[in-house]
Amino acid sequence: MSRLKIIGIDSEKCIKCEKCITSCSVRLFSVERAGMEKKIEFDDPYHFCFRCGHCISICPTEAIDYTGAEQTYTFEEVSTPESLISYDDMMKFIRARRSIRIYKDKPVPEPLIHSVLEAMRYSPSASNRQSREYIVITDKEKIAWLSTKVSNLMKTTQRLLPLRYLIAPFLSSSLRRRIMSPRTKKSLEMFFERTDSGDDMIFFKAPIVIILYAPPYSKMTGPDAGIALTHGMLAAQSLGLGTCWIGFAQEYLWRSKKTRKTLGIPKDRNVYGVLVMGYTDIKFERAPPRRELSVKWKK
Ligand SMILES: Cc1cc2nc3c(=O)[nH]c(=O)nc-3n(C[C@H](O)[C@H](O)[C@H](O)COP(=O)(O)O)c2cc1C
Repeated sequence: MSRLKIIGIDSEKCIKCEKCITSCSVRLFSVERAGMEKKIEFDDPYHFCFRCGHCISICPTEAIDYTGAEQTYTFEEVSTPESLISYDDMMKFIRARRSIRIYKDKPVPEPLIHSVLEAMRYSPSASNRQSREYIVITDKEKIAWLSTKVSNLMKTTQRLLPLRYLIAPFLSSSLRRRIMSPRTKKSLEMFFERTDSGDDMIFFKAPIVIILYAPPYSKMTGPDAGIALTHGMLAAQSLGLGTCWIGFAQEYLWRSKKTRKTLGIPKDRNVYGVLVMGYTDIKFERAPPRRELSVKWKK
């Protein structure tokens, strides 16, 4: 995957407005003066540039020279995004998003899937790493295969339940809490009753499964993935599509090296998010209640 690299400034185009200097958080641009002449220089001997691209975004004359990246988007509202959507409209849109668990048996045209992925591409990431890669599964049989694999993990949990007092000390605290909870036994019974009667309790027979994988570079990998998928969920909604994050599948894929390999996920990557997507076959009347905000103001 090619990466953005700033290589300098086109002195013919540069109008010396110094906006690149202001925008660079690691201070790689400077003004050089020779008599009355002023020149803007870019210098990065210690490779501090983390490729945020803000210098490219701010330059009024496209004077920043770079390689390894696409053309930028220039449009009038880019400097006044608030003119594109009001807070009220945005909040309505956010509140209207639901996790969708009922889908139409209708394929989604590929350009629409691309549009959702494109929104994910524009999400922020720590140090602008953008190290996310995706697998898009639209093959019904493959989705059913993966769903069975995830269900099998639940089956193992169910089988281990009678031994829970014995194995609890060896489990992580979250797994221990889950396996010891009386709800777990009941919910697994319900899960398999419905699975056995033909329901897909993992992917809800959605026509698309999107898997996000990435190298586990830091504690920021998870948040990066979450933001990318959230962008995707909102973009999907704007295209008339529903989504649901599938933590069960994410957890299974995180553990199963073998299935990751079968899916073509390289050894040095892991799975940080799974979404299902498709045409919604359910209509909500209102946003569900949320908890009150819990905020500590320090004024
Ligand atoms: C990280 C994460 C994991 C989730 N995992 C699942 C899942 O495995 N199965 C499922 O049906 N819903 C899953 N959900 C959806 C949540 O249950 C849902 O977001 C929550 O109930 C709030 O409902 P809403 O999204 O409609 O506002 C997950 C959501 C998130 C953010």
